Amino acid sequence: MLLARQSIIHSRSLLRSFSTTPIRQTKVAVLGAGGGIGQPLSLLLKADPLVSALSLYDIRGAPGVAADVSHIDTQSDVQGFAQDQVAQALDGSKIILIPAGVPRKPGMTRDDLFNTNASIVRDLAKSISEHSPDAHVLVISNPVNSTVPIVSEVFKKAGNYQSNRLYGITTLDVVRASRFLSSVRGTDPVETPVTVVGGHSGVTIVPLLSQSPVGKALSQDSEDWSSLVHRIQFGGDEVVKAKDGAGSATLSMAYAAAKFTHALLRALNGEKGVITPTFTESPLFKDQGVSFFSSNVELGPEGITKIHPLGSISPAEQKLIENALPELKKNIEKGLKFADNSP
Ligand code: NAD
Ligand code: LMR
Repeated sequence: MLLARQSIIHSRSLLRSFSTTPIRQTKVAVLGAGGGIGQPLSLLLKADPLVSALSLYDIRGAPGVAADVSHIDTQSDVQGFAQDQVAQALDGSKIILIPAGVPRKPGMTRDDLFNTNASIVRDLAKSISEHSPDAHVLVISNPVNSTVPIVSEVFKKAGNYQSNRLYGITTLDVVRASRFLSSVRGTDPVETPVTVVGGHSGVTIVPLLSQSPVGKALSQDSEDWSSLVHRIQFGGDEVVKAKDGAGSATLSMAYAAAKFTHALLRALNGEKGVITPTFTESPLFKDQGVSFFSSNVELGPEGITKIHPLGSISPAEQKLIENALPELKKNIEKGLKFADNSP
């Protein structure tokens, strides 16, 4: 009885954390909705009042997930689609999230997922470009540093690429940075934002602690600073190790993707000043051959309206950026080459 009451209180506070005025009808699709991320993500999107319809697709299990979340008492309609129904799943979808693909096991890097996930993402991108070319595409599948360039190339080949509508989801790095810093400093994560830039794997994840009112208190020569940076960069490994072969982060990732989606929905609904980081085609390091980069961007009714510069960074952070760039370049080129050589 007590547990049931607590869970009702919890879901009310989850709903309250979303703003509540649906202005425009926005259908959201999840491709990979039957998976470890897809299921809790579908749940969180069903709870978001800015979502008017939810389209759940997977090669297995999506109709079951759809039947389940469709009983939740929010207004959105939910439909589930099986393997041969990708076109129906995409029809009319304005925001499309892709968590389809395999996750890591202990000892693997995200790049080790490339051989399997690159073609899954490429094929889904082809379907999107055919059936819903104006959608906002949010890529979760790893390696994000390569899968986002793959999606861009597929759209370019089809002649309908809009870089302002393509987003690699790096929100989990920001969520972790805020949580890890707040646990070191004894602050509330809500009041401990941290800007994280670069990419989404190991050394390409660059937290800018000097820009955080809480983080700047840490001396960048200290052991505390380097172990915090390392934890933010390799936080995903902690979960992979703890799950011991059963996959990688799913619940925290679903939370992060739902958070990003809500920010985008607010912007699509006309809210001004929505700023969030994402891995997207970016001019920031293009002259060094790095054509995609994650930094804070401003969102508007058409997607990304402005890519923010990094702002002032410390010498230690400059070094982190220098370490990130060669790896990022390699990952991006790998994705572009794969898509280029694909039929
Ligand atoms: P999972 O194996 O639990 O789920 C993946 C789902 O994708 C499965 O249900 C599978 O049936 C489905 N799928 C496979 N091929 C498909 C296709 N062609 N069309 C539609 N669905 C398809 O894996 P997971 O734990 O949910 O992780 C998914 C991906 O997300 C992995 O690549 C993982 O590395 C990545 N990930 C990214 C982040 C991030 O921060 N961006 C965080 C965590 C995980
Ligand atoms: C994460 O950061 O948790 C994800 O990218 C999954 C992984 O492989 O670590």
